[in-house]
Formats: sequence, C-alpha cells, structure tokens
Amino acid sequence: MSSALRYRFGDHDSEVRFSATVDSAFISSDSGALVVFDRNTAQLPIFEDEGQRLVLAPGESSKSWSGARRILQRALDGGLGRDGLIAGVGGGVVCDLAAFSASLFMRGCRLILVPTSLLAMVDAAIGGKTAINLGGYKNMAGTFYPAERIWINVSLLRHLPVREFDSGMGEVIKTALLGDRELLDILLKQSSRVTGRDPEVMEEIVRRCVAVKAGIVEGDPREAGNRAVLNLGHTFGHALEAETGYKLCSHGEAVAWGLMQAAVLSRALGLADPGYTATVRELLETYGFAPRFDGKPESIVKAMQVDKKKRRGKLRLVLQRGIGDTVLREVDPHLIVETLQDSARIFP
Ligand code: GLY
Repeated sequence: MSSALRYRFGDHDSEVRFSATVDSAFISSDSGALVVFDRNTAQLPIFEDEGQRLVLAPGESSKSWSGARRILQRALDGGLGRDGLIAGVGGGVVCDLAAFSASLFMRGCRLILVPTSLLAMVDAAIGGKTAINLGGYKNMAGTFYPAERIWINVSLLRHLPVREFDSGMGEVIKTALLGDRELLDILLKQSSRVTGRDPEVMEEIVRRCVAVKAGIVEGDPREAGNRAVLNLGHTFGHALEAETGYKLCSHGEAVAWGLMQAAVLSRALGLADPGYTATVRELLETYGFAPRFDGKPESIVKAMQVDKKKRRGKLRLVLQRGIGDTVLREVDPHLIVETLQDSARIFP
C-alpha cells in the first residue's frame, strides 16, 4: 500500500511517501539524475535501473567538503542540468550530504531522499537541514534545503545493524516526549513488536515521528525559535559524543543519555515533577539505554560550551515541564555540573 503526507517547509513543498516499492519515474528527470549511496545502501534492493550512481564510503568521514565535492563533480561530469535530480539513499550521513550537495549544485537542483536507517526516516531526511562536518564537530556547515520527496520503506529497517536500529530509537523516544502520548504508549506497551521491527508497528511509529517533526518544522523552518525544541537531549548528547571521541556511543545512545540528563535538570529546576523523570527513565530502559556516564561532569559541560547553541556565555538548553511541554532555558554551567553529579548518584 502506498500513501503520502504533504508538508510545506518555508518555500518548499515536501511529500513523504510510505510504500514498499517505488516506480522508476520517482527518480527520473529529463535533466539527468545522480543517485548517491554508501557501500552498504548500494547493496539494498531499492531501484532497478537508477542510471548514474555514486557510491561513497560509509560513515561520518564522507560527510565532508571532499564528499560534497565528489557529488558536485559527478553531477557536473554526468551532465545534470539546473533541473537535474540528486537522490540520496542512506542513513543520516548520505541524506545530509546529498541534500547539502543538491542545495549547491547550480544554486539548487531537485532533491529526493530515500532514508534507509530509522534515524534518517524520523529525523535527518525530514525538515530540510543539510550538513557537513567541520573541524571535528558535526554539522558545522549546512543549508536549509528540503527534499521535494522522501520515500520511506520501513521493511528496509530489517537490514539495519542492531546498534543502528537502537540508535534511531533514541530519536523516536525524543519525538514521543516532544508531543505524542499515543506514540509513548505504543513504545511502552508494544516494545517487543518494536524491537522485532514489525513493519506494521514501525510504519505507525515512523509516521507519527514524521508528523511531530514536520509539524514543528512547518512552524519554524529556519530555526528562528521553536524548531530548537527538536534538540531535546542533544546539547548533552553532542557533548558526550565529542567527549568520547564519537566512538564510545552511537548518536542515539548519546541522545538517550542526554534525554535523561535533560529530565533530571528539568526536575532540579522545578520545571518537571518526579513522575515525568520516572517516565523518561522507564522509556529509555525499555529500549536498553543505560542513563549512566562515568566521566567527569566538568568535561561534559566544557564540551557543551563549544556547542553551537551557546548563547551569551550561558548554555541554552531544551528542557521539559512534562510530556509535550517543552521550554528553552539558559542554564548556569555550575548547575549542569551539579545535575550530572546528581544524575550519577540517582542512577548509579
Ligand atoms: N535534527 C534537528 C532538526 O532537524 O532541527
């Protein structure tokens, strides 16, 4: 069965299509098409005859100026015109990089994304943020350039390594906390179907996540204000990733840890009650996330201070009064150090 959701992100219309198959017209263009994969997604049974392909090395190292240069050069050499099409088939790296390149090619060519990881289906492919990494930090250069179409086939999730699937669950849990109590119920009550990647429940989950994210982005496509709530758990999470050299934990694990810290801080600031913190913990533990960190709170806070969301010397964090009630607050770094110490004490 095929069905579509339509959104408007700034000046761009985006169609999110859910189906198990896609016809070749989906990626054809009279002005030429280039389909970008990584070595893993190039093996997936997706398109039969997609024309010109570029296969990149998997992983963050491709999400760089040189990765973008390769795509742009191949698009040029392949004769793509102004109305040519770049399609990205992959997880967050390929989606962010293909979108970044499409936004630059001839000052913006057509863009289609085929997210193959859970994280890309619920986050990276939706809402138009494109990026490459710079200077050891993630996503430090980018543009806003929504895909005209996003094709989601949840049966592709069965190909995902466990760690990557779990990583996407960090973003799914974040999305439920941001504003979908029914999604939260599904996550709590149907966890074995979720971890078994049952396509029916996964499509329901991905649809709900897309709807929550798209609803937020439609209201603030260029993150002038409320879109920042999508960073719930991320300022802590990015700091943990940077502090541990992007090796110890996946992005989703870091976000899950960050969600717990944001919940503990929300409680410490008197925003949220203990019931909320307990729900966040239950949700994270249901999916095997351990909200522990054995490192030094001071070094995490230092890493948070270089995060791009820093404002006027204070850290601006996304916190919650409860499920679906999210606020942005500037927080004194000393209080964050105390929270991380408390968190280690509460969740030994
Ligand atoms: N991943 C956060 C955003 O799209 O704004």
